[in-house]
Amino acid sequence: MTILVQISDLHIREHGKIAYGVLDTATYLDQTVKTLLRLPQAPDAVIVTGDLADSGSLDDYARVQHLLSRLNVPLYLMPGNHDDRANLRTAFPAHTYLGNSGFIQYTARVGELHVVALDTTEPGQEAGALCTERLDWLNSTLNALSGQPVIVAMHHPPFNTLIGHMDAIGLRAGTNELETLIARHPNVQRIICGHLHRAIETCFGGTLASICPAPAHQITFDLHPQAPATWILEPPAFRVHVWDAQSKRLISHLVPVGQFDGPHPFD
Ligand SMILES: [Fe+2]
Ligand SMILES: [Fe+2]
Repeated sequence: MTILVQISDLHIREHGKIAYGVLDTATYLDQTVKTLLRLPQAPDAVIVTGDLADSGSLDDYARVQHLLSRLNVPLYLMPGNHDDRANLRTAFPAHTYLGNSGFIQYTARVGELHVVALDTTEPGQEAGALCTERLDWLNSTLNALSGQPVIVAMHHPPFNTLIGHMDAIGLRAGTNELETLIARHPNVQRIICGHLHRAIETCFGGTLASICPAPAHQITFDLHPQAPATWILEPPAFRVHVWDAQSKRLISHLVPVGQFDGPHPFD
């Protein structure tokens, strides 16, 4: 059994500052870390699918580093539209897989799973994109992992969610090419994403594409095309993706953050 925990969209601000003038995202991330540390099975790794920082400053990342430092398992980071590639690399020098320049794309071996992180960010833009260079890298990477269980991780989901203001800043280029590419690699067990701050999934290229909620604020559920861009403090949660070598399936759970009454025996 291999366990990969996915958290996403931390939106941490530097010490003394709060997000949107009202939201102390650090306190919420602290609750998520505490919940992770109470899991009955320790994960083999934790991946953060982007928007680690809210402004992308070095001071933001210093706080991210401090908050995540209690997770004593391998930690994999990737950028979202709120992140800054250079500052992310500078703040996490031990994370050599982040590379020195260009896109932040890498593969990571987590137990029996291979995680392939894809960089969908476009500096200075909220929307994401996949260009030929990134898609070519993914194609050759997946070719090399043929027949082995792969999770593709990306910040911007490759599908419209029908939450209009978020789709407007979604993946604006490369989605059709990505879907064709993924369909050629049936060993891709899952595409895991962030950006939407909600639990959403759909079929994509013959696999399941799923989005992870956030530790603090969720995007308000409203499918009206002109729904205003708002967030809401619905219960936070994270994903636990479990590779079962016996059935050769990736089983994905959604686990709420917090401490709850129970467990109680059935008999
Ligand atoms: Fe976000
Ligand atoms: Fe985002």
